[in-house]
Amino acid sequence: MTVVAADILRPAGSLSGTLMLPSDKSIAHRALICAALAHGQSTIELRQPGDDVRSTIGALRSLGVEICVDDRGEHVAVGVTGLAEPGRFGQLGGGEADCGNSGTSMRLLAGALASAPGTTRLTGDQSLSRRPMERVAAPLRAMGTDVELRDGHAPLTIHGRRPLRPIEHRLPIASAQVLGAISLAALAAGGVTTIRVPGLVRDHTERLLSALGVDVERAPDSNGSTTTVNGPARLGAFELSVPGDFSAASAWLIGAAIHPNANLVLVDVNLNPTRTALLDVLRAMGADVAATIVEERLGEPVGEVIVRGGGALRAISLGAADVAPLIDELPLVAVAMAAATGRSEIRGARELRVKESDRISTMAAALSAAGARVEELDDGWRIERGTPRDAAVVTHGDHRVAMAMAVAAWTGVAAGVELDDRGCVAVSYPSFWMDARSIGALA
Ligand code: S3P
Repeated sequence: MTVVAADILRPAGSLSGTLMLPSDKSIAHRALICAALAHGQSTIELRQPGDDVRSTIGALRSLGVEICVDDRGEHVAVGVTGLAEPGRFGQLGGGEADCGNSGTSMRLLAGALASAPGTTRLTGDQSLSRRPMERVAAPLRAMGTDVELRDGHAPLTIHGRRPLRPIEHRLPIASAQVLGAISLAALAAGGVTTIRVPGLVRDHTERLLSALGVDVERAPDSNGSTTTVNGPARLGAFELSVPGDFSAASAWLIGAAIHPNANLVLVDVNLNPTRTALLDVLRAMGADVAATIVEERLGEPVGEVIVRGGGALRAISLGAADVAPLIDELPLVAVAMAAATGRSEIRGARELRVKESDRISTMAAALSAAGARVEELDDGWRIERGTPRDAAVVTHGDHRVAMAMAVAAWTGVAAGVELDDRGCVAVSYPSFWMDARSIGALA
């Protein structure tokens, strides 16, 4: 293939403007699934939903949920007719549903289907079919559901049972998806389900269920947190305009923090404290960032973030306790580390190896190709600034790698970046390139 200059992303003169991010995908998945299980008609307003959120919509439809999508370009109104009937819960399921590239769709749906009648098969694309599923199957089996996997992976074949048994479960790894799956299953269990999580993972499931009237609580402790869900519980219908995705905002936060001439305002962003650890990391590295909460929507804080560039970033060391609240931001944090003065380190992040790609090795290869000094560790990286050069980046179809390396190019961490796949950003952020153009990152 011939490479033309326009295919190579280059450092930008400045980054400035105001952006509205796509709706948070973690909240969107949960809202869609809860609306499907609820009693009555819900409306969920989404901005620029990516492929993952569309996978949940498609999967729910395949499972018998009536969903009406009013696509008005940037804004999409999703009407969901809940399946619950008075006195019963969740008539979801039966047949087959495709979760595409979306681990969150597959794992959360497995929880929602644990009490569904009949047999349901959940499938995914090649990348999703390589990701570990025993972590979600084991607790659902303990609750009474029969879950079959193929060698620990998708497809998942789920034979739902009702009622389910409440369990006390300790997650071996910090996963909000697995916590969310067990919490959704617990809605059909008689009694208190207790889930201990070794890390501070995102708490969107708890916030939404609580806003919908479920008796659910999370108590942080020295090892992470414990969530309790009191079942059985019925969900009422609701309306929600899903706020912007902090993980999408992170591309611009990191970009502006590194860039010598940047001033960005990000509005209508979800500022749930279990998602915003990057703000603390950036402040510790010396960046100028400020966040303000302006309202709350179904338990989720929403507000704006302002970030200004121009300052030098310092190196930082992050350990296991930092990883869960930063999990999707770590490829971008690696780029900030490659811009900072001094040697940075991230440890305890082995989970990155089982994301959409093996992000430890994908980012180590990409940043090294761009000239940074990167040591790949089993559970993280050691990173130092190097001499920027042109890099041909293999994304392995991973949206977060593509966005992180685009930011590396626009900020001069790389002299230039050619991505093998620009389209994969649509998994979470379909308007990424358009937004990049609007703030001056792309000519
Ligand atoms: C998510 C949880 C995280 C995160 C993913 C979304 C969620 O995954 O990486 O992008 O919405 O619960 P894990 O649960 O595997 O850590």
